[in-house]
Amino acid sequence: MYLGVDYYPDYWPEHLIDEDMEGIVGLGANMVRIGEFAWHRMEPRDGEFDFSFFDSVIAKLKNKGLSIMFGTPTATFPAWLAKKHPAILSEDEAGNPRAFGGRRQYCFNSAEYRRYSARITEKLVEHYRNEPAIVSWQVDNEFGHEGSDMCYCGQCHAAFQRFLKDKYGSIDKLNDTYGTIFWGQTYNDFDEIPVPKKTITTHNPSLQLDWARFRSRSVNGFAEEMTGIVRRCKGDHQTVMTNVSGGFFGKWFDHAEHTKPFDFVSYDNYPVWGGLAEPIPPYAIAMSHDFNRGLKGRNYWIVEELMGAQGHDVIGYLPRPNQARMWSFQAFAHGCTDMLYFCWRAMTRGAEQFCLGIVDHDNVRGRKYDEVRSVFSEIAPYAELLQTEIQSDIAVLYDYDNIWSWRFQRQSEAFDFTAELLRLYAPFYRLNCRIDVIPADRDFSRYKVLLLPAFQMIDDGLAERLKTFAANGGTVVFSFRAGLKDKNNNLRLGAALPGPVADLCGVRIEASEALPKDKMVPVVAAAAGNAAAESLLPERSACAVWRDLLIPVTAETLYRFDDPFFPEAAVTRNRYGEGEAYYIGGGLAEETLDAIARTIVNRNGICHIESEPGVEVYVREDGEARYWFVLNHTAEEKSFRGLTLKPYDSMIVPADEEGPAGRR
Ligand code: GAL
Repeated sequence: MYLGVDYYPDYWPEHLIDEDMEGIVGLGANMVRIGEFAWHRMEPRDGEFDFSFFDSVIAKLKNKGLSIMFGTPTATFPAWLAKKHPAILSEDEAGNPRAFGGRRQYCFNSAEYRRYSARITEKLVEHYRNEPAIVSWQVDNEFGHEGSDMCYCGQCHAAFQRFLKDKYGSIDKLNDTYGTIFWGQTYNDFDEIPVPKKTITTHNPSLQLDWARFRSRSVNGFAEEMTGIVRRCKGDHQTVMTNVSGGFFGKWFDHAEHTKPFDFVSYDNYPVWGGLAEPIPPYAIAMSHDFNRGLKGRNYWIVEELMGAQGHDVIGYLPRPNQARMWSFQAFAHGCTDMLYFCWRAMTRGAEQFCLGIVDHDNVRGRKYDEVRSVFSEIAPYAELLQTEIQSDIAVLYDYDNIWSWRFQRQSEAFDFTAELLRLYAPFYRLNCRIDVIPADRDFSRYKVLLLPAFQMIDDGLAERLKTFAANGGTVVFSFRAGLKDKNNNLRLGAALPGPVADLCGVRIEASEALPKDKMVPVVAAAAGNAAAESLLPERSACAVWRDLLIPVTAETLYRFDDPFFPEAAVTRNRYGEGEAYYIGGGLAEETLDAIARTIVNRNGICHIESEPGVEVYVREDGEARYWFVLNHTAEEKSFRGLTLKPYDSMIVPADEEGPAGRR
């Protein structure tokens, strides 16, 4: 098991290195990550390579018994390169090249950038291929983060046109697919096709979706090329990975495809960043872990775990004592096997003066240092447990095409995809169920429940797989707008909604309404005596964001809209083969979804654990042995089955059916 810190010896006077290493080893660390922004240090002038600085750092780290993850430095290029080849700079929508400064301002489609990146990557990895202390290569750093996945330059425009030509073959096919007859946009040639920059009103939806797919290919193509070089040049003992940043549903690249070439997934976990007054909610942090575990369907690393407050210009919330420690245990609970903290010491110079580390500018080893040391010493004995596979009964499905189609057409100004995904995820999280968050093209036959948040894009293939799943006894939960669009981002003529899943849901939708921000519409449980009344669902509730007016065909009604004009069903359940499908026709209120989740876990016999609000319990198993990771996400003292949890407490306890068998 690797535990350690992100270390930037190149940013500090050389005389600090010995002292730093002594401090890092004192944490109980066995790994440091270095080098990922140091291109200029390695190639100070075009074609002049010099690794001597890192040679001497590595010799020292090795002496201390530390293993090394080395980052290829392509996330920040040297100023001489930008001066020599300004076309490497990406362009914003207004056609302005991004200035040198900041980071990741390169264009993924710049042949020149690819050439220089390939060269430095090759030189670096070849130089250290036989270095036993370097056990892993990180490729670049947080691909596509901070808006760097979008570029509208001429190179991208030409590459987009080529991408479309490869995809459609003939311009007539593209015209037909997009329906460019509308507003007379018919193209005679691929070279007439624009990139969807700002225009009057809006671009063609199919064109926009292809643009998103092209962006994804651009980012992932670059990542694949660089990874291929590392693989070709590295030593057999060295692994290859990259680090995934947060905010993944807001990105223009498919993350499962992105992480395919890597040996393992690694996530950068920042539950609070920038000016946030509060950390993101515990269920949202948990979902991020489940998403990252879902990328390869395997446990994962964290190479940047937050310890101090963070921000570039604005800084907000300071994690409370033991809160960052608790977030680390939460990560381990959800499948993190190895962890590095960002960062060893906060910088005194440069753009990250306010990204605080384990040690701050005063260079004193204080509370945060002790917290990290306690994490390392308490987690190390569980190394084997952390490697065990997490088996979930519930999966949340997502699909980037669907997410992008929402980004281009929000339909309701209150719509936010991540919020809608969390709306379905959180009720099961609160029951302490294990949940996978996975792409919809995965095999989902081993689950009992599938959640499909805001799945407006469903093709016949997915619809069939969902029907087979339900027919064999599975429960499928759709929220609103299901089955609206095909994979070209078009609607279907003559198909009643919810399109290809209409018979699975047993409903028909003839009308819908977008609800603007802060607008809620009341719903009421269907008449006493039916399933809703029996299952303790709240009598009254409300929907936000959207409402589909559902007409049951074979489904039963759980809720209907309390509206004299639109008394249609709001939530339905349909028997399908051995299983069933729920249709939740709006952004239903939390308590009601909690009650529905409880009904679903009970009907499916899914393991869940009652805990006080704010207390998360995550079960891990190692053969016969079971453990609870118990996490207090609140500032108050809480209890769980006889354990007292101090504010932000975190612990691992052996568990049995009755309760903890004693605290370790
Ligand atoms: C990450 C990034 C690091 C550092 C950190 C600051 O997104 O990978 O290089 O910038 O944020 O919190």
